[in-house]
Amino acid sequence: NEIKIFSPATVANVACGFDVLGFCLDSVGDDMVIRKTAKKGIHIANIEGFDLPYEAELNVAGVSALAMYEAIDVDFGFEIEIYKNIKPGSGIGSSAASAVGSVFGMNELLGKPFNKTELTAFAIEGEALASKCEHADNLAPALFGGFTLVKSLSPLKILEIPTPNDLYATIVHPQIEIKTSESRALLPKEVPLSDAITQWANLGSLVHALHTNDYELIGNSLNDVIVEPYRSQLIPYFNEVKQAALKANALGVGISGSGPSIFTLCKGSETANKIKQAIQDVYSKTGIDFEIHVTKIN
Ligand code: HSE
Repeated sequence: NEIKIFSPATVANVACGFDVLGFCLDSVGDDMVIRKTAKKGIHIANIEGFDLPYEAELNVAGVSALAMYEAIDVDFGFEIEIYKNIKPGSGIGSSAASAVGSVFGMNELLGKPFNKTELTAFAIEGEALASKCEHADNLAPALFGGFTLVKSLSPLKILEIPTPNDLYATIVHPQIEIKTSESRALLPKEVPLSDAITQWANLGSLVHALHTNDYELIGNSLNDVIVEPYRSQLIPYFNEVKQAALKANALGVGISGSGPSIFTLCKGSETANKIKQAIQDVYSKTGIDFEIHVTKIN
């Protein structure tokens, strides 16, 4: 009647795939407990780590749970405990981990009536509360793992993309908060056709590179000419981190989701740790507090 789950952090956009591409960070995430209760409805029983609302209608995990609860007909309820490790506003899918965790756990307790795409649809409602718009590029990799591409929201269609065997991510999180809603408001409503061409060429070639284990092409494709020029200004020492990581043999560097976290991809754990060191060298001179994670992408 109770399940403990780990709900992973994720990197959305992956440079050229704004709002559609994302990957899962297996070793970073939140812990949650979901429990059946005699009392009907959805209740948030405990939240640790960060100060978040207990009212289910105002809580990301609560809103996605309510969306699922409305779609089922049961004479019991659920309570949710959230042990949050992913800082809200960090750019590694904090709200998505909450949104996905509650519906994943409920689905397990119900005997899995819903598939992962259906779970994503419920979770979109929770994610929308946090970012004020519907997008699934963090939710899908949190549920499916690895790399995913959200082909369309309506109808919801998610594609799983294979990951080369030796692909690692190094993610740095400077300890400032950027709200997704604010970071979206910065973006232009229209983009020049020439930039759009560059961006979709990069996205197509990145997806091809992931399918064909072509590390060099992964690196050549990790460019974002549309969003990064606007958002990088919010991230302290973004260009310095980028140059240091590339010098340490990162295949590519970009903003993780809506920032301020920065992700880098590389081949092999040794390089990933060298990149970690190079980024530490940049930030430790600036007085900015930061956290760094190295993880294999599965
Ligand atoms: N695709 C979203 C954005 C991810 O960049 O705004 C952040 O939640």
